[in-house]
Amino acid sequence: MMVQLEELQNEAEGEIGAARSEKELLDIRTRYLGRRGILTGLLRDISKVSLQDRPLLGKKGNDVKDFLTEKIDMALSLIRDADKEEAIVQETIDVTLEGRRIKPGRLHPITQVKNEICAIFSSLGFSIEEGPEVEREYYNFEALNIPDDHPARDMQDTFYIENDILLRTHTSPVQVRVMQDQAPPIRILSPGRVYRPDFDISHTPMFHQIEGLLVDKGVCFADLKGVLTIFLQGVFGKKTIVRFRPSFFPFTEPSAEIDIQCTMCQGKGCRICGQTGWLEILGAGMVDPNVFRNVNYDPDEYSGFAFGLGIERVAMLKYGISDIRLFFENDWRFLSQF
Ligand code: DAH
Repeated sequence: MMVQLEELQNEAEGEIGAARSEKELLDIRTRYLGRRGILTGLLRDISKVSLQDRPLLGKKGNDVKDFLTEKIDMALSLIRDADKEEAIVQETIDVTLEGRRIKPGRLHPITQVKNEICAIFSSLGFSIEEGPEVEREYYNFEALNIPDDHPARDMQDTFYIENDILLRTHTSPVQVRVMQDQAPPIRILSPGRVYRPDFDISHTPMFHQIEGLLVDKGVCFADLKGVLTIFLQGVFGKKTIVRFRPSFFPFTEPSAEIDIQCTMCQGKGCRICGQTGWLEILGAGMVDPNVFRNVNYDPDEYSGFAFGLGIERVAMLKYGISDIRLFFENDWRFLSQF
């Protein structure tokens, strides 16, 4: 049994020396020193040998046990240290690596075009006014001389919230609010969101308009022509050719729609301008006397002009964008081009 114990010690020592991982060492410990381990079994057998041999064998058994326990503990701590070193090396941060670039935000193309238009009109002395997007029927329609039976009042063209309350379908109600609040002379620009239940390649249920209003004594159609020509040449370029075409709006008389010569084909006719050679940009006209009466302005004393345009439409023509929905999809690849 003495020899057995010696051999066992040598064998185990060899295994401990060859072990390369924590797991291997723990396995060895279980195999030799565990409750059902080889050494534990041998020690148990000592009770079967003669009384006189017992003390010596018992001592030897305990020595082997202590020896192996210590060897395993030492080997374990060496391997654990090495693992730690390894982890530290692995986790070292390479400070020479290039960082990840943060993509900076920038102004949305609609905001950029809005700012550009506002800047042109500020240089002409217009100031900015804003109005509510949730509006009363009175301001959106009635005060603007849009009668009850006008098609624009149809539920199909308007998001109603309650009987008398709706999402404004245009920025024109701001004209009325401003004139109610202020006495002439008035020179304002009002950008903002408007809402209509349409959705296709050139319509989204929410879009942006800019309204303009100028009221004073002696304002005439030539003033309207001059101001809007300066504006359009400012946005689309000095050489832009502008055309005023008779039209109808309930809140202006006379009314006009204003076109620029097609920027894509220079008036020859193409897909963009529907072969007409012209692109419609604005609605405008001389403020209807009925609108003045609604805000207690005397139409015999004052005259003025108003205009309204869609910002998306201007941005689409300026940048050659064919689908209005692109503005609202927030696709970084689209937005980063502006
Ligand atoms: N409010 C009109 C629309 O949404 C645009 C417009 C036309 C505004 C003529 C005006 C104007 O102020 O005079 O279609």
